[in-house]
This record gives sequence, structure tokens and C-alpha cells, in this order.
Amino acid sequence: MAKVRRVFVCRSCGSAQSRWQGKCPDCGTWDSLEETTFDPALEKDTHKGLAAAFTPGSDSDDAHSPAGSPAAAVSLGDLASSPESLQRVPSGIGELDRVLGGQGDHRGLVPGSVVLIGGEPGIGKSTLLLQAAGAWAARGQRVMYVTSEESAQQVGSRAQRLGAAAGDATKNLFVLADTNLARIVEQARKIGPALLVVDSIQMVYKPDVPASPGSVTQLRRCCADLVTIAKSSGIGVVLVGHVTKDGQLAGPRLLEHLVDAVLSFEGDRHHAHRIVRAVKNRFGTTLEIGLFEMTGAGLRESPDGAGLPAAQATPRPGSAVCPVLSGSRCMLVELQALTATGFLGAAKRKASGIDPNRLAMLIAVLEQHAQLRLADRDVFASSVGGVRVVEPAADLALLLAIAGAHLRRSLQARTAVVGEVGLGGEIRPVPALDQRVREAARLGYQRLIVPKGARISIPGAELAEVKNIDAAIEHLG
Ligand code: TYD
Ligand code: MG
Repeated sequence: MAKVRRVFVCRSCGSAQSRWQGKCPDCGTWDSLEETTFDPALEKDTHKGLAAAFTPGSDSDDAHSPAGSPAAAVSLGDLASSPESLQRVPSGIGELDRVLGGQGDHRGLVPGSVVLIGGEPGIGKSTLLLQAAGAWAARGQRVMYVTSEESAQQVGSRAQRLGAAAGDATKNLFVLADTNLARIVEQARKIGPALLVVDSIQMVYKPDVPASPGSVTQLRRCCADLVTIAKSSGIGVVLVGHVTKDGQLAGPRLLEHLVDAVLSFEGDRHHAHRIVRAVKNRFGTTLEIGLFEMTGAGLRESPDGAGLPAAQATPRPGSAVCPVLSGSRCMLVELQALTATGFLGAAKRKASGIDPNRLAMLIAVLEQHAQLRLADRDVFASSVGGVRVVEPAADLALLLAIAGAHLRRSLQARTAVVGEVGLGGEIRPVPALDQRVREAARLGYQRLIVPKGARISIPGAELAEVKNIDAAIEHLG
């Protein structure tokens, strides 16, 4: 018989250690290891029970249980389901369905899959999921919305206000305010929903597990149970998870490998726009993003990105707008920089929404190839509105923002910048330039600074090709 093991699991990265240590050896977080017991026999029994409970007319779970008779190997030809041929349940909220995966009209949640959606408190996760639950219910799906943080009345009145309680949604959407997983499972069995939303997973607990809600043990066990239910019953499960201050899901790796898709809901609470992006997706691409605007009546889809702050950027020193590509869509993002007096040898470099290594590299390139003295200047750089920019194609815009801030010169009005910067100060071509130029021109940025050799001509767009950073800096007037 398998032995019960004591393990110490890191709350931050989910790695398991055999003994307690003050600092997690994998992610370096202090005081994050939490003791937990791992009993293989107990876990197997629970999963067997859950799988059987959700499979009508089956006492044995050999077909489902990984612990049953050994699974037979199947040839690839018999496993017909490609991501395109999967059955999907669209919510009708196009921007959410786009991120969930699929093609054309055939987008949405895959039955039997588990999606985890993370975001900072107050960003609008409950609002998004209540609207999605309402939309699914209005299309005839039975939905159970479990709220572990609010009362059923609160959810009900919010659903009214969001217009999520219209038509068929009134009879298909069930709200349950509970935190006990055993009772939640019991209710799900009675109601038989096609979709189950749990808002949030951190507050849910299993009564037979001796650990507090939100602890590593509880999170792992509750999530694993919900995954078993989803896989054995075909119920689509959406879990909400709060992220910690530093932008990590509490126990991220821990839940990330258990679920099929991890979506992150991002934005700046001081701006109206919100972005949903897939961090992991077993049933689709992770390149697509969904754009929303938070309004007084809930989230509104904003497919053309017109609500993004860059659409209204005014030219000033230290600012440059870049068309950034994300999946099949292009967004205009404003990058800003500020330089201030610092100390030689101890100058600060702070980046927000931008890769700090990229920022350090661009500062070095400016020092070396444009003779800007930044060694004793503090440099702050950020992308406006909390949009994360990871593409090298945004290098040149960031570089011109830093140079502009230092030289107190700005770009002309309605100018956008795109290009990758090399260590030799050369500007390299970027993928999908014509799409970026078209999108910028459509949103009123007719002048574009682009890498040399663009060989494209787009009506209504005026291109200035630059070979190196010196030529680009000349555009700062
Ligand atoms: P909520 O969905 O509760 O956030 P989360 O579940 O991520 O913690 O939304 C919180 C904020 O959204 C709240 O501060 C107010 C704002 N909001 C609106 O602006 N309009 C609305 O219609 C709703 C429901 C919320
Ligand atoms: Mg909430």
C-alpha cells in the first residue's frame, strides 16, 4: 500500500520539497512553504467516487479512472478531434469566445474543460463571468453560478443591473452562495448544469481536508475534484482566482497544470478598458486577446480597441505610440518614459508593463550609439493603461520615448513608431508590418516611423523608413 507522505509545497510557485526551508529553492520566495500530506489512496478514492457520481448508470469507473485497468493505446487516426473539430459552447460574448479558442463562428468553451480566470481584486472578473453566465443561459444552456464571496441576493441584483437576467436566463441561470465543495457538488448533481462557474476558488474548501480555505492543500484538492467532475460529466467549469500583489495567481503553477486553460483579466482600475488574454490554452491559441470597456452597466465589448488610451495620446516629450500585435489583432499602445537626476553608478531603471531587460538594453544602445549620457539619470518607463508589451517590435517606440524624455523633444502629432532595435543601433524589420500600418492609419496615426526596406504602400499612411537609431532620433523635433 502506498505510504502517506509529508511534503512542503510553495504557495507561490507550487513546487514540492521534502523538508521545510525558510526560502523556496525554486522561486526564491521567503516563508512560502506550507506543510501538506499526500495520501495517494485517499486521492484515488475521492476521484473514483466523484467520477461515478457524475456518470449516470455506472458503478465502475474503469472507463474514466486513470487508476482503473490500464488504458489501451489508440492510433492517432482514431483520435479524430483536432482543435477545430471540437464541440464548443459559445457564450455569444465574442471577445470572450475569441480567447477561449476556435475558428470563425465556432468559438467558445469546450464541454468538460476547466478554465481558470485570474485577475486583481476589483478588476471585473465577477462582472465578466456573471455576464457570460447570463449569455450562456440565454442561449439555452443550464448554468450554475457559485458565489463564495457574495450573497445570492447580491448576485441576483447585480445580474438585474447588468441585464444578465433577461429572457431564458431567468430560468436557466442558478445561483448558489456556498463555500463547501461537498454541498456545491451535491447541488451541481441535482441541477445538472452544462456550465459551472465558481467565483472564487480561493474561498472554497473541502470539509474533510484539515487545512484552511485558500491554503495550498485546499486549493489543490478542490481544483482536482472539479477537474474530475468536468472530465467525467462533460460540464464546462470556469474558476475565478485572485492574483496576489505581484501579479501571480496565488498558487499559480499548482492550479495551472491542473486546468485546461488559464485566462488573465488585465487592465488598469483607473481606466475603462480591460483585456482578457490566454496564458495557457489546451484547446486554442494563446495569442488571441479580448478587449472590453467597463461601463456603468457592466463590461461592453470593444472589438476595435478604440477605448484604449493610445487612441487619445497627445504628442509630448517621452511619449511614443506603437502598433503592438497580439494574435490576429493589432492594438495601439502608448509607451512613456521619464528621465530624472540620479547618481552615477546607482541610477534607477524602473519598468512597468515592459520587460526590464529590454529597457536596460535600449538605454545601453542609446549611450553607446547615440551618445546620450544616461549613466547618471534615473529612467522610468511604462506602457499606458496597464497593457503588457512584450514584443521586440516595440523597441523603437520605447527608445524614442526615452530619447525624447532626455532631450525634451517630441514626435509630430499622429505619429506611430514600430521597429526592433539591434545591439549595433540598427533597426530591424518586424512581422506583419502592413497590418500594423493599416490599423494605425485607421485610428488616425497616418505618419509611421518604420524599419528600412518596408516595401509596402498603404493609402492614407505616410511612411518614414529609418536604418538606425540616429535616423530615428532625427524625427524628434
Ligand atoms: P467585480 O466584477 O466585482 O471585480 P472582481 O470580481 O474582479 O473583484 O467588479 C468590480 C468593479 O467593477 C467595481 O469596483 C465597480 C466596477 N463595476 C462597474 O464599473 N460597472 C458595473 O456595472 C459593475 C458591475 C462593476
Ligand atoms: Mg469578484
